[in-house]
Amino acid sequence: MKDDFQIAVVGATGVVGREVLAALYARDIPAEQVRAFGSERSKGLEVEYGEDSLEVERATPEALRGAGLVLLATPAEVSRTLAPAAQSAGAWVVDASSAFRGDGNVPLVLPGFNTEALSAAFKGRMVCLPGAVTTAAVHVVDPLRRAFGVARAQLTALMGVSSAGVRGVAELEKQTADLMSGREPDPHAFPHRVGFNLVPQVGGFMVNSPWTEEEGGWTLESARLFSSRGEVPVIAGTAVQVPSFYGHGLTLNVQLKKAGPVEQVRAALKTSPALKVLDAPGERVYPMPMLVTSDPTVHVGRVRAFPQAPEWVTLFAAVDNATRGAALNLVETGLKLAERPA
Ligand SMILES: NC(=O)c1ccc[n+]([C@@H]2O[C@H](COP(=O)([O-])OP(=O)(O)OC[C@H]3O[C@@H](n4cnc5c(N)ncnc54)[C@H](OP(=O)(O)O)[C@@H]3O)[C@@H](O)[C@H]2O)c1
Repeated sequence: MKDDFQIAVVGATGVVGREVLAALYARDIPAEQVRAFGSERSKGLEVEYGEDSLEVERATPEALRGAGLVLLATPAEVSRTLAPAAQSAGAWVVDASSAFRGDGNVPLVLPGFNTEALSAAFKGRMVCLPGAVTTAAVHVVDPLRRAFGVARAQLTALMGVSSAGVRGVAELEKQTADLMSGREPDPHAFPHRVGFNLVPQVGGFMVNSPWTEEEGGWTLESARLFSSRGEVPVIAGTAVQVPSFYGHGLTLNVQLKKAGPVEQVRAALKTSPALKVLDAPGERVYPMPMLVTSDPTVHVGRVRAFPQAPEWVTLFAAVDNATRGAALNLVETGLKLAERPA
């Protein structure tokens, strides 16, 4: 990367954007090459960049001009405007939102799964990323698909409130304090109180559908990713908002095409560099969101099957939604894109 190459981090004040800055700093990208952007609300604020700090600028198409790489950690409606503008201005663009995940013209890239898509020819200068739950589910299912074939995977995702960004985090903090003081809080960021509760709705429902957009996203994104492998397991399930802050937990029931002993299932999972297998239940070793903080791998364990239905394997996984589920995907994808000829 040349010394005058500029990386714009848009959404730098958010849950994902802050982790993007931390990941760029950890890769020794000098502060002079990184610019932080947000909305009008955060213009002029300072965000941490290792020992340094960066002043937040207001993101507009004009302000992003001159950046070689634009990493978007913004709401989908903001990405819909800024991504095409930055692309037209000649930047490489990576978007973490759902804005382009259903657009067949924009490559959907999951580092460590289809990184090769970044070296292939494609139209435009923009790619997008899957969500955090799809990231975890695809990394767990893929080694099983390679070893046994997979027909489908049913999952329940227990999603920490940071999936709704800084607003979600602030809401659980306030609701917990209110409830501990005997006050019944009003929900704002979520459809119901999430404090000391579980809400089986994450995001809105799809039009004329019983599935939420979050749940529909898992099926759509995983189908797009697996289509390059010629075998598309159906991945579907229920998203539940839970009263924890960071990290998601996933129970997965995976239907193998050819049953194998649980030991072989565990061995297949261990072949994936994207996974860390934590599976010694007798010693109370298994994945938990609190163990996965800032870990670039997805944790998986509690591997088991019924003798009566050995083709169905049940597992539990945990992923750091902000880092592995978004920020690391943004940074790894962006830095690889930046290696492409201009
Ligand atoms: N959180 C996760 O677990 C996760 C995982 C995967 C993907 N994602 C996706 O990543 C994106 C960011 O999520 P997040 O959780 O980081 O959200 P967040 O905490 O709410 O942060 C949103 C960021 O976008 C900025 N922003 C909002 N409106 C803007 C505008 N008009 N112009 C420029 N910047 C604007 C905000 O800046 P201000 O501070 O100025 O408002 C803030 O920096 C979303 O699309 C989300 O779906 C999130």
